[in-house]
Amino acid sequence: MKALCWHGKHDIRYDTVPDPVIEHPRDAIIKVSSCAICGSDLHLYDGFVPGMEHGDIMGHEFMGEVVEVGAENKHLRVGDRVVVPFTIICGECDQCRRGNFSVCERTNRNKEAGDKMFGHSTAGLFGYSHLTGGYAGGQAEYVRVPYADVAPVKVPPDLTDDQVLFLGDILPTGWQAAAQCDIQPDDTVAIWGAGPVGQFCILSALLMGAKQVIAIDRVPERLAMAKQLGAIPIDFDNQSVLEALNELTRGKGPEKCIDAVGLEAHATRSLDSIYDRVKQAVMLETDRPHVLREMIYVCRPGGILSVPGVYGGLVDKIPMGAMMNKSLTLRTGQTHVNRWTDDLLQRIIDKQIDPTFVITHRVPLSEGASMYETFRDKHDGCIKVVMTP
Ligand SMILES: NC(=O)c1ccc[n+]([C@@H]2O[C@H](COP(=O)([O-])OP(=O)(O)OC[C@H]3O[C@@H](n4cnc5c(N)ncnc54)[C@H](O)[C@@H]3O)[C@@H](O)[C@H]2O)c1
Ligand SMILES: [Zn+2]
Ligand SMILES: [Zn+2]
Repeated sequence: MKALCWHGKHDIRYDTVPDPVIEHPRDAIIKVSSCAICGSDLHLYDGFVPGMEHGDIMGHEFMGEVVEVGAENKHLRVGDRVVVPFTIICGECDQCRRGNFSVCERTNRNKEAGDKMFGHSTAGLFGYSHLTGGYAGGQAEYVRVPYADVAPVKVPPDLTDDQVLFLGDILPTGWQAAAQCDIQPDDTVAIWGAGPVGQFCILSALLMGAKQVIAIDRVPERLAMAKQLGAIPIDFDNQSVLEALNELTRGKGPEKCIDAVGLEAHATRSLDSIYDRVKQAVMLETDRPHVLREMIYVCRPGGILSVPGVYGGLVDKIPMGAMMNKSLTLRTGQTHVNRWTDDLLQRIIDKQIDPTFVITHRVPLSEGASMYETFRDKHDGCIKVVMTP
């Protein structure tokens, strides 16, 4: 079959690879009908996530039709149409029973690597390095889905792929980021990053009843999309984020702050970002936490910082004094996708949420490799790429 494979930093290729096969009786094989490139894939593309190997199949946002089912899988049948969450979960371990699916204790087959890196291993993820199990991803014609009797979400035939594809990752990610904020009716929620995840954070924060939602980015079409949703845009290239946020909150600061940027934050006017770039270049720091610092500094005392943005390793110069003395709460994590999918699917069916608005580019999988650069560099107004094998 054909798939998009990782061959090193900035080197994704459309390769011919062996077809996947059932390896365990709970598995299923999915024929992919649609898949997408996530901001998290860009961290692999840019070489910031360790544990990738030549030929690894990319992709963790995908859906399709079940074409083969393992003997012990009573949940799926050949012909079912499913969206597959990016987190692989067993459904039985203590963390799965608590609903902490992204830290499932059983699905990472390289548990030792995770234990060494983070103190504990986390869930297996599709197409996301050997630290999270080395599972083949979904930017492919077919995927093997392990534990396929637990996570895959069956979707009704009258909904299009575009309407449901993002249930596997970025829609629940934006939703969880907002849910972690415990939004109150008089809250201002400030969201850094107006990429696809940021857009779904905005939509969720508004649906959860925030008084005011502010979106920070510097890409004009992303800020325009945020504004269209109902957020107040701040362009960090042309405005001081701290001054603008203080002005919009009468000097109090936003009650809730969301980092939908992660470890590759850009900054144009700050000393700390130069420091991060230098330390990253000489490998004294792995991530660039400019947004985290800004959030801690500007957040109203007693507030919540919610961090869906991905970090990989070590960050430096975090103002812990401000964090502690201002009584801030930090909530983060890879998304516990299945915690939210039933509710979000119903909201899509009820037409309360239409996630298709983020899609700007649609290409055959064979042209997907070049879309990594287009998406990363925001060329051609690119916000979200959907690919069809
Ligand atoms: N927690 C999860 O489970 C989960 C799931 C999906 C994605 N993510 C992460 O969410 C983050 C966003 O994903 P995406 O798909 O929207 O990616 P994206 O790269 O399209 O969006 C990031 C946006 O941040 C903006 N940005 C950069 N520096 C900034 C700054 N200093 N201030 C404000 N904005 C800034 C960029 O211009 C860009 O528009 C990534 O880190 C991704 O890995 C996490
Ligand atoms: Zn993702
Ligand atoms: Zn589990």
